Amino acid sequence: MANDPFLELHHVAKDLGARPILHAVSLAIPAGSFVALVGPSGSGKTTLLKTINRLIEPDSGSVRLDGTDINVGPKHRLRRRIGYAFQGIGLFPHMNVAENIGVVPRLLGWTEAARAARVAELLDLVALPADFAARRPNTLSGGQTQRVGIARALAARPSLMLMDEPFGTLDPVTRDELGRAYRALHDRLDLTTIMVTHDITEALLLADRIVVLIEGTIRADAAPAELLAYRGDPAVEAMIALPQAQARRLAALVDAR
Ligand SMILES: Nc1ncnc2c1ncn2[C@@H]1O[C@H](COP(=O)(O)OP(=O)(O)O)[C@@H](O)[C@H]1O
Ligand SMILES: [Mg+2]
Repeated sequence: MANDPFLELHHVAKDLGARPILHAVSLAIPAGSFVALVGPSGSGKTTLLKTINRLIEPDSGSVRLDGTDINVGPKHRLRRRIGYAFQGIGLFPHMNVAENIGVVPRLLGWTEAARAARVAELLDLVALPADFAARRPNTLSGGQTQRVGIARALAARPSLMLMDEPFGTLDPVTRDELGRAYRALHDRLDLTTIMVTHDITEALLLADRIVVLIEGTIRADAAPAELLAYRGDPAVEAMIALPQAQARRLAALVDAR
């Protein structure tokens, strides 16, 4: 139905070992949303993302994508619709950039000509020069590597992008530039994006909506401006207080000149 959320998690729970990692997480995400998933290290963010593309099977609960349970049909058909990019993306070192970007199209049986055309299109999309197609991963900077990783995740035209700390290893300037470049791509390609980040400022500046996961439970779910005004849960308040305190300290330095 038109009003159904594009992605819907219903009471998704997971224990790993004997420990509960996700406690009945429910989340409804409309098509086109850009959601940042934030929370302390170990709070279950990666586990939650992996339940969406079936890298991890929940103990209970369900995940629906575009109205259909993700367990209907084979995993590879689901993953074709989902781009997955993560920190330290690990390009295949023995393949050049074009071959890396073309991995999934190749698995899908695209012709060589169709793959080459798609690689050229994707390099343009992520603002890398066309001659990067022949470069080896070990000749790329960190930012260029992440751009190739994003191109690879987009290769089969997914509608949903799952990104797990995609810019985590980059210097702040490259990180800011790439974050904004990705946000523009999200808008232009009509993607739905869930981006895990531990950087609350990045989340506030890039996303439409921020979901705060603490100890496997969603403790806040709000638009950036709403989250900044959020009061009630001390752990959430502490999390949003830090970037605001830093912004005030910077402003005070400018005032003191
Ligand atoms: N395969 C596993 N077996 C047991 N525990 C795990 C496994 N994978 C992750 N965990 C634990 O689950 C918790 C959540 O992990 P994770 O989802 O990676 O958190 P985050 O991405 O928020 O840092 C952590 O305490 C982690 O140690
Ligand atoms: Mg993680």
